[in-house]
Amino acid sequence: MQLIIAKDSQQFGEIGANVVCQVVKNKPNAVLGFATGSTPIAIYEKLVEKYQKGEISFKNAFCCNIDEYVGLDKNHPQSYAYFMRKHLFDHVDVNFDNVEIPSGIAKNLLEECKRYKEFLAYHPRDLQIVGLGQNGHIGFNEPYTPLGSKTHVVCLSKSTIEANSRFFTSVNHVPTKAITMGITELMTAKRLLVLACGRHKAEVVKDMILGACHPHLPCSVVQLHPDATILLDSQSASLLPDYLKE
Ligand code: F6R
Repeated sequence: MQLIIAKDSQQFGEIGANVVCQVVKNKPNAVLGFATGSTPIAIYEKLVEKYQKGEISFKNAFCCNIDEYVGLDKNHPQSYAYFMRKHLFDHVDVNFDNVEIPSGIAKNLLEECKRYKEFLAYHPRDLQIVGLGQNGHIGFNEPYTPLGSKTHVVCLSKSTIEANSRFFTSVNHVPTKAITMGITELMTAKRLLVLACGRHKAEVVKDMILGACHPHLPCSVVQLHPDATILLDSQSASLLPDYLKE
């Protein structure tokens, strides 16, 4: 596990974007797994800059996302499909035929999970970006999700709904369910880029890195990944012992 602590948001974005560039440079048709939420936005901004400077092209890459809210159409401003277009896909040369995001409005959600599972099985991720929930979730794999899980429908925990209510007009508008890649599918990515920012993530970051690997804290599985980079800011790293920060 490689630990990187960025000194500010600029550097956070730069380091994260460089990881993506490195993967795509080595393999232009790489399969990239993206995450949404506040944390990766700095990285996506840098990727757009790098694309504009000719430092990266997504035209042969396959792009997929960890999760999507159930009940939100891909054009809903809070859907994760919309988020990816707004922050990245609409500003780079991504081939939309090569973009896969679970549909939150599929009539048969179990069939949609099956379809996504099959897609992932045939498209092992070369890089998976993972955000960290304050309750230890990765993707929307909430505490006590079996570590062997694959794509499934999840009932979001109260704490996740509350945390995400900042993006909605009220907590009552936050979807209560989502489709998420499972923990196994996250872990089978060749490389993981795990992100956290902010003092409110410091406790969970410490437990993720130093705690017992257990389903009560899904993010703890990243300890077992052979090629995981943990990218933090100084606030989220503030409870880590000094020997890890050297
Ligand atoms: C989003 C996702 C979530 C977020 C996590 C952190 O696709 O899968 O696990 O990554 O909730 O969100 P932020 O970055 O908003 O703190």
